[in-house]
Amino acid sequence: MNDLLAMGDLSPQQTNDLLQLAHTIKQRPTAWSNYLQGKSIALLFEKPSLRTRASFAAGINRLGGHSIYLDAQNLMGAREPASDVGANLALWHDAIVARVYSQATLSELAAASGKPVVNALSDICHPCQALADLLTLQEQLGDLSQVHLTYIGDGNNVCHALMAGAAQVGMQLQIVTPEGYAPNTELLTAAQEVANQTGGTIHVAHSLNELQQTDAIYTDTWFSMGQTRDSNDVMHDFAPFQVNSDLMKRLGAKHFMHCLPAYRGREVTAEVIDSAGSLVLQQAENRLHAQNAILVKLIEGAAA
Ligand code: CP
Ligand code: NVA
Repeated sequence: MNDLLAMGDLSPQQTNDLLQLAHTIKQRPTAWSNYLQGKSIALLFEKPSLRTRASFAAGINRLGGHSIYLDAQNLMGAREPASDVGANLALWHDAIVARVYSQATLSELAAASGKPVVNALSDICHPCQALADLLTLQEQLGDLSQVHLTYIGDGNNVCHALMAGAAQVGMQLQIVTPEGYAPNTELLTAAQEVANQTGGTIHVAHSLNELQQTDAIYTDTWFSMGQTRDSNDVMHDFAPFQVNSDLMKRLGAKHFMHCLPAYRGREVTAEVIDSAGSLVLQQAENRLHAQNAILVKLIEGAAA
């Protein structure tokens, strides 16, 4: 593994190895406390963040490394090209974690820096989130190939990452989005091809009536950072897709998932997200462990 730019870049074996490593690091954190000793990681953010920024900073600290936060909003593109940013950061840092508007910026950073680059969310994908989500489901439900997961909402970066990850672990995933908000066709086809090999299934529908019984329902905001959609259209189109207690009951879902930040009363009711079956804090906690596994694998790869 040289970089983690998109979830679909991982093989089923690599994803399973990362989940195993994340579990091990979570169980025995002290065994890894010097892993990044003397190493420095740049955290480069073009968009706001709570979980990703704070969990990377804390996680790197737990591995004995050092991180710096760079607000890239006024840096990349505005002040200098991403390629110059990457080439310079590589002089002082061992890896770059970047949250960007465009997936292409990640490739530019990776090419120019020659150091491992981790996608901390782009317009297309959120792999750190998907790995934490898979780890959470594994902890809660065991064998991921037996898990039935339902994603309801926008076919966005979180949906794309989940789709690729679900395929890699052989999960049964059904996705329902309003018409016109389906996940990217190429990414869907690629995930379905992987699912064919692993025994997983990925179905996309546009009506809640098509949904089968499920272990968990996952949703995300209707308004992702950087999107320029008309907010009235979005509110109108997504309104029937709110996750509420009736829907949870109807689909037999014991668990609710959300990457956060969440908007209570829009994509999910407070009753559902604040219920005992909600896994949102477990997901958030697992961001740190999943990301530390990613960093360990990347630094290991860079040293090889
Ligand atoms: N889920 C997630 O990535 O949260 P932040 O945007 O707060 O980092
Ligand atoms: N889809 C959301 C996820 C935030 C963590 C966004 O891109 O804004």
